[in-house]
Amino acid sequence: MRLNKYIASAGVCSRRKADELIANGNVKVNGASVREHGVQVEPGDVVAVNGKVIEEPADKIYVAVNKPLGYITSMDDDKGRATVAELVDDIPERLFPVGRLDYNTTGLLIMTNDGQLTYTLTHPKHEVWKTYVAVVAGVLSDTRIAKLRKGVDIGGFVTSPAKVKVIKQMPRHAVVEIKIREGKNRQVRKMFAAVGNKVQSLERTAIGDVRLGRLMSGHYRKLTRQEVEYLKSL
Ligand code: URA
Repeated sequence: MRLNKYIASAGVCSRRKADELIANGNVKVNGASVREHGVQVEPGDVVAVNGKVIEEPADKIYVAVNKPLGYITSMDDDKGRATVAELVDDIPERLFPVGRLDYNTTGLLIMTNDGQLTYTLTHPKHEVWKTYVAVVAGVLSDTRIAKLRKGVDIGGFVTSPAKVKVIKQMPRHAVVEIKIREGKNRQVRKMFAAVGNKVQSLERTAIGDVRLGRLMSGHYRKLTRQEVEYLKSL
């Protein structure tokens, strides 16, 4: 790996800043000062920036987790509740959830140690379509569907247009697929509440083109190279 990338991947600074540090003679590889561009770092090399040895950058890991009910999307919990960190605790790298799912929401959660991708996917500028399947109480009438599609007020915030499809209407509840681009707190629950249908269960089934598929509850799978490239391209 190139020295500037190595320094940036270790989380020290940006690649451009690393170039400056190198040019200014602030970087040593195996004890020797390095000022040229394009120096390659091999596994086992010791790199020091401003006299301090930096940790080897960890491999980037990307997984899709099927979050069960009753897990919080956090790395630890002071109330002792189960956390999504426990679902990936056999992976040595420390992975962080990309965005959040409510305690009572199940389904697709991406976890990674790639801070750049987390930033991209959660930044409002890059709003990606997220697909949910909700079971809601009562009948989801055409008028209500139209309101959800147009945008509803969820308490001081009007949602942007959603894609809504009723999969099945039963006498007392409906199964609905809803796609939204924003990620306000409890947004889907609030949107259905705004039109008068209480959410009984909620599952996220896709983030953009990355699908939950048949992944079992509480299990994870590594994302494919294509999925990672796709997410990075968003
Ligand atoms: N919307 C919700 O209401 N809850 C979630 O967990 C995700 C989206």
